[in-house]
Amino acid sequence: MKQIPLASLLLALSLAPVAQAQKKPAPAASATDAKMKQYIDGLMAKMTTEEKIGQLNLVSVGFDVTGPVVSKDVDANIRKGLVGGVFNTYTPVAVRKLQEMALKESRLHIPLMFGYDVIHGHRTVFPIALGLAASWDLQAIEQSARIAAEESTADGLDWVFSPMVDIARDARWGRISEGSGEDPYLGSRIAEAMVRGYQGPGNDLTQPNTVMACLKHFALYGAAEAGRDYNTTDMSRQRMYNEYLPPYKAAIDAGVGSVMSSFNDINGIPATANKWLMTDLLRKQWGFQGFVCTDYTAIPEMKEHGMGTDEQVAALALNAGIDQDMVGEEFLKYTAKNLQSGAVSKAQLDAACRRILEAKYKLGLFADPYRKVSAERASSTLMKPEFIAAARDIARRSMVLLKNDRNALPLKKTGSIALIGPLANRQRDVIGSWSGAGDWHQAVSVEQGLRAAAPGLKITYAKGANIADDQQMLDRLQAHGGELEIDKRSSEEMIKEAVQVAQSADVVVAVVGESQGMSGEAAARADITLPGQQLALLKALKATGKPLVLVLMNGRPLAISWENQNADAILETWFAGTQAGNAIADVLFGAYNPSGKITATFPQVVGQVPLYYNHKNTGRPYGGVKLDKYKSRYLDVSNDPLYPFGFGLSYTTFTYGKPTLSKSTIGPAETLTVSVTVQNTGNVDGEEVAQLYLRDMVGSSSRPVSELKGFQKVMLKKGESKTLTFRLAPDALKFYNNDLKFAAEPGDFQVMVGGNSRDVQMVPFKLVAQ
Ligand code: BGC
Repeated sequence: MKQIPLASLLLALSLAPVAQAQKKPAPAASATDAKMKQYIDGLMAKMTTEEKIGQLNLVSVGFDVTGPVVSKDVDANIRKGLVGGVFNTYTPVAVRKLQEMALKESRLHIPLMFGYDVIHGHRTVFPIALGLAASWDLQAIEQSARIAAEESTADGLDWVFSPMVDIARDARWGRISEGSGEDPYLGSRIAEAMVRGYQGPGNDLTQPNTVMACLKHFALYGAAEAGRDYNTTDMSRQRMYNEYLPPYKAAIDAGVGSVMSSFNDINGIPATANKWLMTDLLRKQWGFQGFVCTDYTAIPEMKEHGMGTDEQVAALALNAGIDQDMVGEEFLKYTAKNLQSGAVSKAQLDAACRRILEAKYKLGLFADPYRKVSAERASSTLMKPEFIAAARDIARRSMVLLKNDRNALPLKKTGSIALIGPLANRQRDVIGSWSGAGDWHQAVSVEQGLRAAAPGLKITYAKGANIADDQQMLDRLQAHGGELEIDKRSSEEMIKEAVQVAQSADVVVAVVGESQGMSGEAAARADITLPGQQLALLKALKATGKPLVLVLMNGRPLAISWENQNADAILETWFAGTQAGNAIADVLFGAYNPSGKITATFPQVVGQVPLYYNHKNTGRPYGGVKLDKYKSRYLDVSNDPLYPFGFGLSYTTFTYGKPTLSKSTIGPAETLTVSVTVQNTGNVDGEEVAQLYLRDMVGSSSRPVSELKGFQKVMLKKGESKTLTFRLAPDALKFYNNDLKFAAEPGDFQVMVGGNSRDVQMVPFKLVAQ
């Protein structure tokens, strides 16, 4: 999706129950707010009803789209003042052209706001979000967003449709690749880091290099039934508050400027018509002050949801608290009628219009509609060497070593390698889906990376298999910028060639997985094994007896049990961005010691999903006793994941001492300190992500078996030990009970510390009432 060749770009450019806790008091109005209010009052006094409605209209200019509808008559509408924002266009020239049209030719000269799907980088592309999360490196993640802000603003943009913070526990959902995985605590920290990166540490959007972030998809999109995109979500409020809402809330608290409504319906009401969500929760409880846009044509899609006619769905959305209509044009076409009939009020329209104008004011667009954009700034900023270097470093931090038997990795730079697999020489795939303005021709493939890093190594390439065989899937992928190269030979012939290449090499490096288009939007998969003949290829390679190293590329957890049993080493590289091949070479040759840990559980088989570490215990927990029939388990597979949340290896080993607590009994206002000594017990320096989990043993509601409450990524030289200290403040023990009251309940707790969610050491403590 959204893969826009430059040529077509240029062509296009020519054209309910209320939770008691955490209710936020309205912030005191500042002098800037007063100035803004005065300015916007003055402007709105001059605006006709039609012009106000125009601000609620967000149009897509020109090219690739993520739905069946495209915006029409854009230029004419801009001139009439009927467009508030534009997305899908960038470059100083293109943006200036449209901005000038609005400023010079519309009656009130209100500037447009320019948005775009800058998701994991703009021109310099970083790993997909699921990969960034696997770095557990908040600084690196923030830096990736900061660089994206530098580049996107230099390219004329004001607004990015990121961060995507949907918690996802179902690996079938293609969009699991776009978020941080399954954990609300980690997801919250990443959401804050991304907002800081985009909007700058001071949240000052008037700076020419800060960009307004858009939190998405509000809300619960990641819980779509069966992992099928756009599907229904039905969830208790308690689960929402404890497990799914925290990352959205964290981004709001970090000051995110805008929010995008999600496509799904929530307990019977589509998010885009959901007043409880958009007004009661978002604005009244959480105190959100920015504006809400819809997702792509989400308002007209409510007709398909069965919510009524065009007039009705337009009214539902406005009354719910939606301010801007992305491509749907329902506000544009039906708000005047709805005002006449009384289905919506003038106050509601004014409130939405005001919020859009406030966003423009906060961006400084009224003061400088061009935000210091120039061709010179663009050329000295986009893909500059520091950004490329950061992309390489951040990419290698995101990679996860899933297996490494008998030190199969790192590889030597001498001898010979058989480089096999449909992804081994792909530049298009490494930048991933939603790679926006990234030009894949400038990306580094694995083959290019390996050759550059080890000129003395003999590398022989064979494709071995196509990425997939299913013609329907291939057609679908091609239709959305897949740029696939399909080898017409039979799979037997391709495998035979690969085996021959393998036989004459010292080591086989097989680069397998998914093409970039197999994850992302509208890319659900019901079978999450390696597609096509790739497994058959691996089996044939295994039979050669040569050491088998897998380099995986994929946007979701895969079910790779055979691969786990049979490969000597497995490196998960996600879709690692512009510098993927160089970063992969750094890890394969040991120039960088891998330190990533997965943030979404890998199942043994797809039938286990949704599978996540922070589940409930049930009344009949499975304890691993084979003949114990009446337990919560499957007959044909254990409940264990293939790789648990937080798992990832290193070229060194780390040993954890027994965690110690500052106290074994604490009161409700006390902070507990947990200390643990971690030692690098291997032969090379390395970084470890130490993780702290908590289990609340008894509660007024059943509690998860484990919840992440802290983590630290530390560098340890070989042989070095460090004592890490975690602080568990009173809020860490709290949860939303069945009455949605956020409180800690006295009783027994277990603290668990370790290098992943499974291999932990436990220490008990007690919380007392006073
Ligand atoms: C996606 C959003 C995206 C929007 C604009 C939609 O289809 O769900 O994530 O921001 O398109 O391109």
